[in-house]
Amino acid sequence: VLEGRLIAVSNRVSRPAKGASPGGLAQALSEALRGAQGMWIGWSGDHGESGAELELEKHGDITFGLLDIEATTFHRYYEGYANSVLWPLFHSRAELVERTTGDFAAYTEVNAAFADQVAAIAQPNDIIWVHDYHFLILAEALRERGVDGTIGLFLHIPFPPLEIFRRLPEARTIVRALAAYDTIGVQTRRDAARLAECMAAIGEGAIRTARGGFRVDTFGETVHIAAKPIGTQPEEIRASLAKPRPPEVDAYLRMTADRLTLIGVDRLDYSKGIPNRLRAFERYLRADPSRAATTIFTQIAPLTREGVAAYGAVRQEVERLAGRIIGQFGGFAASPLSLLTRPVDRVGVAHLLAGSDVAMVTPLADGMNLVAKEYVAAQDPNDPGVLILSRYAGAAEDMTDALIVDPADIEGMARAIEAARLMPKGERRERYRSLMGVVERTRIDRWIDACMKDFVAA
Ligand code: G6P
Repeated sequence: VLEGRLIAVSNRVSRPAKGASPGGLAQALSEALRGAQGMWIGWSGDHGESGAELELEKHGDITFGLLDIEATTFHRYYEGYANSVLWPLFHSRAELVERTTGDFAAYTEVNAAFADQVAAIAQPNDIIWVHDYHFLILAEALRERGVDGTIGLFLHIPFPPLEIFRRLPEARTIVRALAAYDTIGVQTRRDAARLAECMAAIGEGAIRTARGGFRVDTFGETVHIAAKPIGTQPEEIRASLAKPRPPEVDAYLRMTADRLTLIGVDRLDYSKGIPNRLRAFERYLRADPSRAATTIFTQIAPLTREGVAAYGAVRQEVERLAGRIIGQFGGFAASPLSLLTRPVDRVGVAHLLAGSDVAMVTPLADGMNLVAKEYVAAQDPNDPGVLILSRYAGAAEDMTDALIVDPADIEGMARAIEAARLMPKGERRERYRSLMGVVERTRIDRWIDACMKDFVAA
């Protein structure tokens, strides 16, 4: 349906050759670009001199365009503005915002550097598909460089309420720049409403409902905003499950076969609510300490963004709580808790999800949370496990048949673990059927179709 090529831009690209475990965004983009003469442009992972040129690398159907960014500028843009200002604010954690002079200038500089490269290769019919909070102002920079084709943004993280967004000194600058996009996709209907309201309020514009979302006329531009919930590809999970279990995962699942197994898989990010979940697990054990011998909770929490202070703080808190639980309830030969702060590959994670009785997905705020969908996709339909899901995950807007919890309510989460343990097979199957329906409806290939349709209509 697309006449031109699809050019995706994201901070991180995932090249098949590197073999790094691709996250949800990486997978989604590879799918979209395959067959669409796709180009995927992003940071090379290296720090060359500034003013570098795109390095092109072809992998299968996808050409990667990789840009070096000089170390200090990168640090101010990535650890600085993107992850110490936008990330906490968009996750409604204004108290964690750390502003450093020069960070927004670096953010602007990096957006401009990418705009230079994209403008140099873009042809009139190409569609430019920009991803996430690293590039909120890219479309405006592209327009300034004469690009007048369709430019869309997909925001993978939540959009905050107006009164929180307004705290940003750059609020107006960013919203004016957002108006240069033709279309903006977000994860949930709530995010769409918030973004539309914010753009209209700050630009003194007007909102109308249109195309399943909103049309906002603001700053002399028209932008379409709609919820396009992202998902997983169930076949990809099944393909992982068809591969043999990695030995350490195999040993773990054999050893725990007759215990109640709980699993959590998250980057060690303060938005993920890992401390709350550990407290709930502790409360669950405390209610009946004999449970320690019959239960095991494994939390995979690879370290992330270690250059940002708030991440060090949450890591310490998680390690302290894990130590407290192991100290109180562990025995000589066994412990009811495992914490791994290193990454586990996708095949291992798929088997862990498939083999666990309960998944704890309890973020304080989260764009979508694909672990929730991956867990469901990995279950045996005849004997599925139970998903405990925070009402603050984007996934909860549709996955209403999970056990929905409020991560601030520790007692309620402990009760949810108990309810999961006692849930009869019939109810587990019914909930699974409903949740799997959501997983199928929001599969990544459908998500891509929905986004492409939006580009054509734009
Ligand atoms: C979230 C963001 C992505 C980001 C990912 C990993 O899912 O929406 O844009 O790539 O986290 O974070 P990192 O900072 O390691 O890229």
